[in-house]
Amino acid sequence: MMVMESKWLWFLRIAVLSVLLVLEGAPTDACLQHERIALLQLKPFFNHYNELADWDEVTGSDCCQWKGIECNTTSSRLIGLSLNSTRYGDDQGWYLNASLFLPFVELKSLYLQGNAIAGCIENEELSHLINLKKLDLSRNQIKNIPSFKDDATERQQMIHLEELNLEGNLLNNTVFASLKVFSNLKYLDISFNRMKGSLDIKDLDAFSSLRELYMSNNQLKDFVIHKGCCDLKKLEVLDLSWNVFEGMLPNYLGNLNSLRELDVSHNQFSGNLTPLSNLTSLRFLSLSRNHFEIPASLAPLANLPNLKVLYGDENKMVMEPSFYSSLPKFQLRFISLSNCITSQQLSPEFLTFLYYQYDLRYIDLSRNNFSGALPIWLFENNTKLEHLILRGNSFSGPLSLPSAPNLNVSLVDISDNKLQGQIPSHICPTFQYLGALFLAKNVIEGNIPTCLSGMKDLVVLDLSNNHLSGTVPEELILKDPLVILRLSNNNLSGNVIPAVLNANGAWKLYLDGNNFSGEMSNIDVSTFEFPTLLTEIDLSNNKLYGKLPRRIGNMSNLKKLALSNNNFEGSIPMEFCNLNQLVFLDLSQNNLSGSIPSCLSPPNIEHVHLHGNRLNGPLPLAFYNSSSLVTLDLRGNNLSGSVREWIDSLSSLSVVLLKANHLHGRIPVQLCNLYSLNIKDLSQNMFYGPIPSCLGNLTLPIQDNKILEQWIYLLFLDDEWIEFTRKSGSYSYRDYIHENIGGIDLSCNKLTGQIPDEFGNLGEIYSLNLSHNNLIGVIPSSFSKLKQLESLDLSYNNLTGEIPNQLVELHFLEIFSVAYNNLSGSIPERDQFTTFDETSYEGNPFLCGPMLDKSCSKTDSPPTTSFTSNDEEEEDNLLDMYVFRVSFLVTYAVMLVTTFIVLYINPYWRRALFSFGQKCITTCRYSTVGNFLVYCIFRKWFNCHGDLNEVGFCCPRKRL
Ligand SMILES: *[C@@H]1O[C@H](CO)[C@@H](O)[C@H](O)[C@H]1NC(C)=O
Ligand SMILES: *[C@@H]1O[C@H](CO)[C@@H](O)[C@H](O)[C@H]1NC(C)=O
Ligand SMILES: *[C@@H]1O[C@H](CO)[C@@H](O)[C@H](O)[C@H]1NC(C)=O
Ligand SMILES: *[C@@H]1O[C@H](CO)[C@@H](O)[C@H](O)[C@H]1NC(C)=O
Repeated sequence: MMVMESKWLWFLRIAVLSVLLVLEGAPTDACLQHERIALLQLKPFFNHYNELADWDEVTGSDCCQWKGIECNTTSSRLIGLSLNSTRYGDDQGWYLNASLFLPFVELKSLYLQGNAIAGCIENEELSHLINLKKLDLSRNQIKNIPSFKDDATERQQMIHLEELNLEGNLLNNTVFASLKVFSNLKYLDISFNRMKGSLDIKDLDAFSSLRELYMSNNQLKDFVIHKGCCDLKKLEVLDLSWNVFEGMLPNYLGNLNSLRELDVSHNQFSGNLTPLSNLTSLRFLSLSRNHFEIPASLAPLANLPNLKVLYGDENKMVMEPSFYSSLPKFQLRFISLSNCITSQQLSPEFLTFLYYQYDLRYIDLSRNNFSGALPIWLFENNTKLEHLILRGNSFSGPLSLPSAPNLNVSLVDISDNKLQGQIPSHICPTFQYLGALFLAKNVIEGNIPTCLSGMKDLVVLDLSNNHLSGTVPEELILKDPLVILRLSNNNLSGNVIPAVLNANGAWKLYLDGNNFSGEMSNIDVSTFEFPTLLTEIDLSNNKLYGKLPRRIGNMSNLKKLALSNNNFEGSIPMEFCNLNQLVFLDLSQNNLSGSIPSCLSPPNIEHVHLHGNRLNGPLPLAFYNSSSLVTLDLRGNNLSGSVREWIDSLSSLSVVLLKANHLHGRIPVQLCNLYSLNIKDLSQNMFYGPIPSCLGNLTLPIQDNKILEQWIYLLFLDDEWIEFTRKSGSYSYRDYIHENIGGIDLSCNKLTGQIPDEFGNLGEIYSLNLSHNNLIGVIPSSFSKLKQLESLDLSYNNLTGEIPNQLVELHFLEIFSVAYNNLSGSIPERDQFTTFDETSYEGNPFLCGPMLDKSCSKTDSPPTTSFTSNDEEEEDNLLDMYVFRVSFLVTYAVMLVTTFIVLYINPYWRRALFSFGQKCITTCRYSTVGNFLVYCIFRKWFNCHGDLNEVGFCCPRKRL
């Protein structure tokens, strides 16, 4: 019986199939010869990208099968022609010869999007295409549509056009007048054009059939409304978003009875919503980003039974008089009311209408300063809820959950609140199909529930910036798939290395800022797969150690690799050169040694942080010629060599930090060619020779916000969802950047010559540090032009002359030092100069003023302190230096000998000294024993809290 039946079924199937085949393959005439020829005539105009390669010139080729062609299946006439983006043009655009389209008399739809069309050749207008229903001219360069001749025959020619897309052209308000002839238009898109000023409603008079009208992204400001005119009774969709409309919503909108969708977002509208109160067909309403006063009961919208979607973000929610409150007739599905309440702290119960909603799928109440307990009733009332976004409020208390499971919930974001306590483990059964959970930036403590790793749909988990402790369930890291796991900045511990190196499902792993431990080096030979999907991994600020595994080079999709502030050692493996996608590399603050592989030059690399290691060798050939490099931080290594040719191959460089290395040579003039270079820190090296005066001629494009943004971008990451902050590390970095925005630091080198007068042209720099060099000459009075200067340090040079009185004009100056020069004369005694104390001036024998307890009688000043005495002084200085060096060397020798004798005699001291030295070596990074001993002892004796430069000066160590 069964067999019989299935045979019968088979027979039926085959029969149906063959009928279908016959129908499909029914012989239709191939495309018409003259239409084929006409197409081939069009081809050269639209084949710039060889998109029309299959428009074949061989006779007999059926043009109905060609790309972009649609034919009527019975008549084989061409009815659709799609030529989107098939041609490029110059700034001017080109003029279309519309007569080329005339052979296609039955053409119904014509798509000419993105072809740089500026218009039509005169008298050859598209209006002759009498059967056209759809015309897409979007994203071209059309400035005006020629007005059609006002006689009946012409008018009739265009009578069928129903859809016209002019989005993204250069049209202004006159466009409506030219479109009048298209009286049957149902769909008109003029968004992204150049309309501005008033929108005269009368202009819309001709379009009584219009159903959809899009005018977003213009510069329209207000309406001109005429009584009893031009009601677009059939209009269903109206988009006025992204203009500059201001004032109240016009009552005119209330006449558009058929309106289903209204978008007035991103304007400057203010006032109330009463004009909308009778639009009973409205389903979709977007009011976001205006200055509306939206009553918390939504009373003006209460009579709109069909309203389903409401965007009200970034307006002002207000309490309304109580008589106004009425039960809403709508049951919303989607509501977004972020950033509407910023002043007082309220609870979500304030939104009275929300109590009566049972059908919501999406709720966004983020950034409203709501306080109190979590509004769990939202889950309980809306059993179909899918997304709940409450981030950036002040909800406190425990993370409570609804009493019954809610199986539709797929995204919960309660980050950036004040939730306490633990993550309840019944979160897994309650939200069984959760896909994304964001609980970052709260004060949640305890362990991560192990059940989270068993949640099949969970692909994004952000628990960063809490107080979580204990270990991370290994299965969580190994979860497949796992798009983003962010556990940064908690107190988590344990060895995560084996799991991380097997995290084959993960895309982005952030485990930084915890107490994770574990060793990398023993990994190389083992069977670890190395996750290939990983694009971002951050293990910074942990307690990981060992050598960087060569196999990291296999992680071919890696864009971001951050391993800073651990105890990694050894060299940077050559295999890192295979990371071709790398954009961000941070290996700073480890114990890495050896040289930087010269092949390391990922094509899109933007940010490189290698500071605070023991990298040595000449400045790397790595990154040579890298035009994408923006930040390069090599501070505090032992790199040597000259920066000259190397630096001007880096054309996008914006931040270059080379402080505290052994770089030498003259300061490259090429630095002046790096126009985007805003932060230069070349201090604590061995640069010598004069300061290139061209450095002063740079009109620095200082846009501190932009730079800060760049840094924030790289520190805080680019994820839309996650405004992620790193507690440790980043703030000091930000301070550092702030201090150095538009700053020039050439301190602690061996620079000679005078300070270029041109430095006065660096009008917008905030700080200038030239201390600890051998600069001579006077302080340029042009410095008075550096109006933004907050910090000026010229100490420890051989500057002479007086402190220019003009410097009192630097009103923002907070830090100022000219100590240890040979300056003379009186100290300016006005404004902020009275606030600097003795330490700013000491070590200048001929300087006088109240701060130095030395009155300025004329006899005190030296005979003349001008350039004429420079030679003499320089000799003095040389002598001083000679004496200093000799005495230094003698001390050095004596000490070394003494030290060794003492150490030889007394084993206890020996141990003590070496452990002291051990402590020092981590901060000093001096390689030879003798050097670091002397270095440390010297530091101790002179109470020096910084690095030494070559001649033994103590350079104050900046925050690293
Ligand atoms: C195709 O052509 C036939 C005959 O000319 C006409 O009746 C029919 O409406 C056309 N179909 C389409 C989709 O244009
Ligand atoms: C051309 O663009 C229109 C949108 O303007 C689109 O509807 C149509 O599908 C596009 N055609 C092709 C072939 O991409
Ligand atoms: C609008 O554009 C047309 C055509 O380019 C031009 O003639 C006219 O001056 C423009 N009007 C305004 C107000 O800019
Ligand atoms: C809405 O309709 C009612 C009844 O027709 C009318 O009284 C009221 O003025 C209308 N409101 C607006 C804003 O048009």
